[in-house]
Amino acid sequence: MREILVTSALPYANGYIHLGHLVEYIQTDIWARAMKAQGHQVTYVCADDAHGTAIMLKAEDNGITPEEQIASVKASHEADFAKFLIEFDNYHSTHSAENKHYSELIYRRLNSAGHISTRDVEQLFDPEKQLFLADRFVKGECPECGSADQYGDNCEVCGTTYDATELKNPRSTLSDATPVLKVSKHYFFDLPEFEQFLQDWTRSDKRLQPSVANKLQEWFDAGLASWDISRDAPYFGFKIPDTPEGEPDKYFYVWLDAPVGYMASFQNLCDKRAGTDNALDFDRYWAAENEHKTEVYHFIGKDIVYFHALFWPAMLAGSEFRTPTGVFAHGFLMVNGEKMSKSRGTFIKAETYAEHLHPEYLRYYFASKLSDKVEDINLDLEDFMQKVNSDLVGKVVNIASRSAGFIVKKYDGMLTEVCAEPKLLEDITKTGDEIAAAYENREFSRAMRLIMQCADKANEYIDEKKPWALAKQEGTEQEVQDVCSVAINIFRQLMVYLAPVLPELTHNAKAFLNIDDLSFHSRNEWLLGHQINKFKPLMQRIEEKDVTAMIEASKASLGESKEEPAATDKEDNSAEQADYIGIEDFSKVEMKVAHVLECNYVEGADKLLQFTLDVGEDKPRNVFSGIRKFYEPEQLTGKKVICVTNLAPRKMKFGISEGMVLSTGNPKTQLTVVTLPDACVVGDLLA
Ligand code: 2FM
Ligand code: ZN
Repeated sequence: MREILVTSALPYANGYIHLGHLVEYIQTDIWARAMKAQGHQVTYVCADDAHGTAIMLKAEDNGITPEEQIASVKASHEADFAKFLIEFDNYHSTHSAENKHYSELIYRRLNSAGHISTRDVEQLFDPEKQLFLADRFVKGECPECGSADQYGDNCEVCGTTYDATELKNPRSTLSDATPVLKVSKHYFFDLPEFEQFLQDWTRSDKRLQPSVANKLQEWFDAGLASWDISRDAPYFGFKIPDTPEGEPDKYFYVWLDAPVGYMASFQNLCDKRAGTDNALDFDRYWAAENEHKTEVYHFIGKDIVYFHALFWPAMLAGSEFRTPTGVFAHGFLMVNGEKMSKSRGTFIKAETYAEHLHPEYLRYYFASKLSDKVEDINLDLEDFMQKVNSDLVGKVVNIASRSAGFIVKKYDGMLTEVCAEPKLLEDITKTGDEIAAAYENREFSRAMRLIMQCADKANEYIDEKKPWALAKQEGTEQEVQDVCSVAINIFRQLMVYLAPVLPELTHNAKAFLNIDDLSFHSRNEWLLGHQINKFKPLMQRIEEKDVTAMIEASKASLGESKEEPAATDKEDNSAEQADYIGIEDFSKVEMKVAHVLECNYVEGADKLLQFTLDVGEDKPRNVFSGIRKFYEPEQLTGKKVICVTNLAPRKMKFGISEGMVLSTGNPKTQLTVVTLPDACVVGDLLA
């Protein structure tokens, strides 16, 4: 028996759970249930992520204390998770005694090992709100192109990245006041010291998916930077201990204590279970020396890989704790092929969904889409209805509903003593090994396909034998009982296979089948000479009107409430934020092979280079690009590059830019212009 601790990312305590979140909780819950069903000791913990500026401001907006804010959100999160049958062994909060303990312990160990340093940081400060402003709370004019109303980290018009302090005419989005520059001391965790450790760690033992490991390589190539882990008051969080007397209080940045919340929730569970039969030992799971005795897995979204695959293992390794066995990232949820949208009603709250549709429909649909890849998944509402109705109602439940009646009415519920189709049942029992492996490898869509193939076999068998027709003939009693008993046995196997995905349906099926075990192993004991109970419908078809009502309710609920989905609190990471476009949007982008006729410096602009590009049109185009610090103009003259040719012309201080030259890398550290082989034909489209 393996001992496994599994976690999902901790949701922020300032917003509701929506279907996008549920991809992850459903994925983790299915995995945890599947591993439990295989006989492993699995502990699934989670917590609310309760700290940070966003939560503090949200509480202020709501006229309550942060403690009141996080308590009410936690209750609503737990209620939502329960509706979707997410079975945590423990659900805690990062604003807890356990989390304070472990955050301080980790910090102190890192500090005494010399991994913490301090330095002064100059930042924009809101003189009215009396707080330092994270980038997303400052707006102003782009220092490069002068566009108005740009956030403090990058310009949405020209794409330049900059520091908030470089914005022209900045203002605080919180108070509209003009921010002032203020210096304060910050604490840094020395991530670069862990580079070699992390390079090894991220490449060993299948800890990460290949695409994640590749992404990390890009971050290594760009160079790791030390991580600012402190925030000044006012801040809702834990004070950093052992700071010099007389200095203003410093707080741990929310992302420092958030992953520690995994440990804290586990510790809280250990305390709750102490002295019971299922007691857990904290050190067995977290002490460095026990790293190979137990397994720890984190399920996360692709946007927070940076925190979980770099900061977190480095923090743990630097503070004598074990590191995770695996970090599994998933993609984001699209609805009807597009990014979730409030106006289209596709930004769906968990609560709104559950008022109209059964949560198990969604669990099954997500399972049928999820794989071990970091791919986005699409909830296509037509396909959702069609798939659930055809697979679960039409195929699976139908097997029981078309055979149970005969057994109960004609044979007092008794199944045959001997299986009439042992080969068929053996096949389906054996497929269980593949299904178990697919679950374990997080290839849920494969597991669902295999399960439906088994259901198809059962239905083909019943269709061929036609027990309803047999029952009308004389002398066929034995055959009808044989056929229906085989069908019920296959149905039982399907319930075993679907139990991790459909815990409620399969639980109800246990009563009908008169069994108490749906563990994977139980499928080896066929139901022979066994009495079943009267069949009650186990699942209704999805009606289109319910889906429509859910979308309408979703539009209404988001329209009337000021409530936002939980804001992220990722001020200073390099992780990419997903902002999806559909294929139809992508195909609007026109990219052409361009020949660099000229490349020049731009007087008065220290970040720009000016290109004269032949893109196969009558006249060359003029394009500005913010890559001056990476290139001398001569390096690019004469090269073939890629130009986005249907970008709206942008008026800049130095002239009009008529396109964009594509480059790759990190605009802060190194950008490389994408060049094409000479053989490419100027003006050709990139497809
Ligand atoms: O991105 C988020 O929603 C964070 N609240 C996730 C935290 S996961 C863990 F590190 F706590
Ligand atoms: Zn700009």
